[in-house]
Amino acid sequence: MKRLLLFLALVLPVSMQAAKVAEPQIVPAPQKLEMSKGTLKLKGININCDPAMDAQSLKAVRIFADRLTLVSGKTSSVAAPVGLERTVSTGKLKGLYFIKDASIAPEGYNISIGKRAGVVRASDFNGFLYALQTIRQMLPLSIYGDTPDLKACWKVPCCQIADAPRFGYRGVMLDCCRHFFSLDEVKKVLDVMAIFKLNRLHWHLSDDQGWRIEIDKYPRLTEVGAFRNGTMVGGDWNSNDGIRYGGYYTKDQIRDIVAYAAARGITIVPEIDLPGHMQAALAAYPELGCKDSKPQPYEVWMRWGISKQVLNVGNEKTMQFLEDVLSEVADLFPSEYIHIGGDECPRDEWEKDPDCQAKVKELGLVDKDGVSATARLQNYVTSRMQKHLESKGKKIIGWDEILEGDLGKGATVMSWRGTSGGIKASSMGYDVIMSPTTYCYIDYVQSPDLRKEPFSITHQWTKGDVAEGAITLERIYGYDPLAEIPAEARKHILGVQCNLWTEYIATTEHLEYMLFPRVLALSEIQWSDPSVKDLDRFKKTLAEHELPLLDKLGVNYRKLDK
Ligand code: ACM
Repeated sequence: MKRLLLFLALVLPVSMQAAKVAEPQIVPAPQKLEMSKGTLKLKGININCDPAMDAQSLKAVRIFADRLTLVSGKTSSVAAPVGLERTVSTGKLKGLYFIKDASIAPEGYNISIGKRAGVVRASDFNGFLYALQTIRQMLPLSIYGDTPDLKACWKVPCCQIADAPRFGYRGVMLDCCRHFFSLDEVKKVLDVMAIFKLNRLHWHLSDDQGWRIEIDKYPRLTEVGAFRNGTMVGGDWNSNDGIRYGGYYTKDQIRDIVAYAAARGITIVPEIDLPGHMQAALAAYPELGCKDSKPQPYEVWMRWGISKQVLNVGNEKTMQFLEDVLSEVADLFPSEYIHIGGDECPRDEWEKDPDCQAKVKELGLVDKDGVSATARLQNYVTSRMQKHLESKGKKIIGWDEILEGDLGKGATVMSWRGTSGGIKASSMGYDVIMSPTTYCYIDYVQSPDLRKEPFSITHQWTKGDVAEGAITLERIYGYDPLAEIPAEARKHILGVQCNLWTEYIATTEHLEYMLFPRVLALSEIQWSDPSVKDLDRFKKTLAEHELPLLDKLGVNYRKLDK
């Protein structure tokens, strides 16, 4: 018999000896993937977990096994036998093994698939989660559904994968102020983020046009600040639909979404945008505003843009308000970072307000380095909020305006006005998250041909039908966040984020259309080393695997250009 097999092996063409195994289509591309011959059958496979794994990771494996059982029609049981690590290093293996391995990088994982057994190694929860996401991506799409698919091929190809993220902070920012999105809608976004190994949802929760988070000490923030009496229509600044619009998240809903995200390896970073972008809060608590602020009474803003009506930061009551709000926010979100906004704060009202000017005097602020004494009041606000949050064990992130003037050590800068803020901040030793308008603003149109796209901020400012500065899939994919950063400052680049502002986005379908598939391109710049990026492979994978996956999940997206 052995001789016969040897004979056949010599005379049969390679293609007939073993069906050629196609490389799995995985986004974001793993750092290292080596294929070998053969496959491992996962249908009915026994799964063994290292008892040293944490409960969350074990739960994630069980969820995977239950789904595999359901869709394949054959039970995959999970056990956590004592001494498994020794068995794996010495014994004959059969089944799928999950081993905790402290030598693997945070969030990284190794997968080794042979014909009889597969071994997964990771050091933490996110590592195990991402290994499972990669295995899912090697299986038929019905693994993402809950209907049995008994005829599908429940096998994974034999391969060796060694994978870990390029950046630790892999985010998307969702603006739920200009338009409000329900908890279920946010959860759907989290589901997709998790598949593509994103780990931060930056949640923009306060702005001129709506306050979205319940704060016990200041109930009017949501009673009044969460609702506006109308919204401008399309790009017409002088229009108003007259329809009351709004909504907010209760604390219980927020706890629910924080837990939902955490189970998917995602941390929610909340943003309270201060001291500008506060008109909705001022509608709720007018006493926090500047003297002679106009128009009066304050109202939750019904137009887009940057409101000139800002907080009176010379008033101690206002500072107390901010600290109280941030205390409740810090209690609610386990994130080590709280985003305190800081962008686009007009100083017109501070120039005239007696409290603000008295504070400028008291602090001895002077015009220096191109930053006026009054503008330096923002440094005072940032520094106080930073100290306050530090007392609660939190660090701050702010938009790159916080860098103007003086900024305390330990702050993280989100570079949005191009890349210069990130280059400067990282060179000064601040940690940085890159989210430049020039590559990462996914409220911008995604094709230069404006006629074919839904109305967007790009339509608002473009004359004619051809957009400059469209953020196409290819443009995001081509971004290297470290490219312009001096070598010695690169260690300060924590990661990359795309921002979705929602002035012109009112429905889930439209939200998803703007997010996808651009967030998939983002996932590769966040996760994969530039050496494994390949636009042709990425687009082919999208067409053949990832977009059908989004279809399967009922997620809307922009079709690829032909
Ligand atoms: C911003 O886009 N205003 C941060």
